[in-house]
Amino acid sequence: MSIQPIGIFDSGIGGTSIFKEIHTLLPYENTIYLADSKNAPYGGKSKDDILALSIKNTELLLEKNCKLIVVACNTATTNAIDVLRNTYDVPFIGIEPAIKPAALNTKTKAIGILATKGTLSSDLFHQTTDLYSNGIKVIEQVGEGIVPLVEAGKVSTTEMKELLQIYMEPMLKADIDYLVLGCTHYPYLIPILVELLPKHVKIIDSGLAVAKQTKLVLEKHHLVNSRTTHPENIFFSNGNVTVLNRILNEKFKVSYLDF
Ligand code: DGL
Repeated sequence: MSIQPIGIFDSGIGGTSIFKEIHTLLPYENTIYLADSKNAPYGGKSKDDILALSIKNTELLLEKNCKLIVVACNTATTNAIDVLRNTYDVPFIGIEPAIKPAALNTKTKAIGILATKGTLSSDLFHQTTDLYSNGIKVIEQVGEGIVPLVEAGKVSTTEMKELLQIYMEPMLKADIDYLVLGCTHYPYLIPILVELLPKHVKIIDSGLAVAKQTKLVLEKHHLVNSRTTHPENIFFSNGNVTVLNRILNEKFKVSYLDF
């Protein structure tokens, strides 16, 4: 049972930022990653469409015998994880924008959230924001256009830099001291964001927290792989395999699969 893989899915290659944290913390776990790049971006889709895609990905991972599923996508988590948890028996780990640590630690009383339209308009996001944003200005920004650029392998480009410059403007005007990355594609933009933001602005993403939660839940359910041999970390993409390979530094087995 414990040697069964952890299943991970995202609308595309962004969830590899979560995979990397999980693989570092749980180096003996077998994993299967689905990059649903054919259907990216999820961010502008309806809640029903995001749910249908999340179900499709989940069922494929369950067919492949996964013991736990990490929804490595803020948009899918905030729109679908309740239904997934109520429908399937395996444990699910989700990812949401880390508003809490930003709201609790801000000194300027202004924080920025960069996420997809699907995440920012979800009930789950509103509930969390309402819970922690008392007396704090929350500058929400839809990262329109970012995911397609990452999916096309255009991270370190002038186009990306110009887009981020536009998105950071209202946040800087509001004097934010925390920027929350609410999409798993965005950690790959940190080098550009560091250049664009003043030094005192801290950038928060939830990758490590997700990895820690995955470990806790595996332990709680007695699902930790007891073997300490080299694991199998497999990646399937229904889109551009070359870009996925590059973001993984050509270190893992990547295959095309039509799903
Ligand atoms: N990685 C997804 C997320 O965390 C991107 C969503 C999209 O495809 O628009 O929200």
